[in-house]
Amino acid sequence: MTVAVYPGSFDPITLGHVDIVRRALRTFDQVVLAIGQNTAKAGRHLFDVETRVRLARESLAGIEGASVDVIPGLLASYCEQMGARAIIKGLRSGTDLDAEAPMALLNREIGGPETLFLVASPAYTHVSSSLVKDAARFGADITKFVTPTVATALRAANGKN
Ligand code: PNS
Repeated sequence: MTVAVYPGSFDPITLGHVDIVRRALRTFDQVVLAIGQNTAKAGRHLFDVETRVRLARESLAGIEGASVDVIPGLLASYCEQMGARAIIKGLRSGTDLDAEAPMALLNREIGGPETLFLVASPAYTHVSSSLVKDAARFGADITKFVTPTVATALRAANGKN
């Protein structure tokens, strides 16, 4: 049984994330979408962790081998505990690689597994949680970028339900 951990903030999960989970499942038996604490974003999340877990679970419902969890602390330790063979990350651009490469190296040096990068599908290279949140905040129709459950949550968060 091969397991990969797909870590991130997922505030909220987008269709780009769902696509990465589906594609990672062609190589791994199980992909755990794992919500971690990014100290740089602490206190700036739109959704609390419980809501992000629920939205991710509902968005991945029916995808065999996919699950959702919370990383209690260090990603490298969590991967060891899960017996994960790899960390999965999606790359939309060179900017993403610049941000991700140091994390991949650090995680490996502190005992984590290799990080494997999947290039984002062209349909999603411009889709990020931050842009979707911002567009939703100002009333844009974001149903092309997220699952219906996330679209509903974004409308509610912006007082438009
Ligand atoms: O979607 P993000 O915000 O880029 O995800 C960052 C995340 C959550 C994957 C990263 O901050 C993380 O792994 N946090 C867990 C704590 C940890 O292990 N930090 C060191 C990472 S090099």
